[in-house]
Amino acid sequence: MIELQFIHNDGQQTIAKARTGQSLMQAALELSIDAIAADCGGLLTCATCHVIIDNAWPGADSPLPPASQEELAMLDFTAVPRQAQSRLSCQINLTQALDGLRVHLPSSQY
Ligand code: FES
Repeated sequence: MIELQFIHNDGQQTIAKARTGQSLMQAALELSIDAIAADCGGLLTCATCHVIIDNAWPGADSPLPPASQEELAMLDFTAVPRQAQSRLSCQINLTQALDGLRVHLPSSQY
């Protein structure tokens, strides 16, 4: 189990434990994080699982893998304009190295 920190658009935080071996999107759904819609179920066709990685993450030696070309292309379709740290949470596989991952949730996914 690792700790995840979700920062909601109103500043509220949800800090919860999640299983490794699943995607960040799946963990968010299990934790009832309403700001993650994930309409396509992780097929990389909807961009409604948009999150913004906290500025403190990744650091210089971050274990967060880079986005694929397909993910980068899909990030053009997020409801809230993408930022430098934007990612699609269905493409982030949770590993022990991501313990403490902190992500901001956009105001809307549509
Ligand atoms: S759940 Fe659809 S792109 Fe991530």
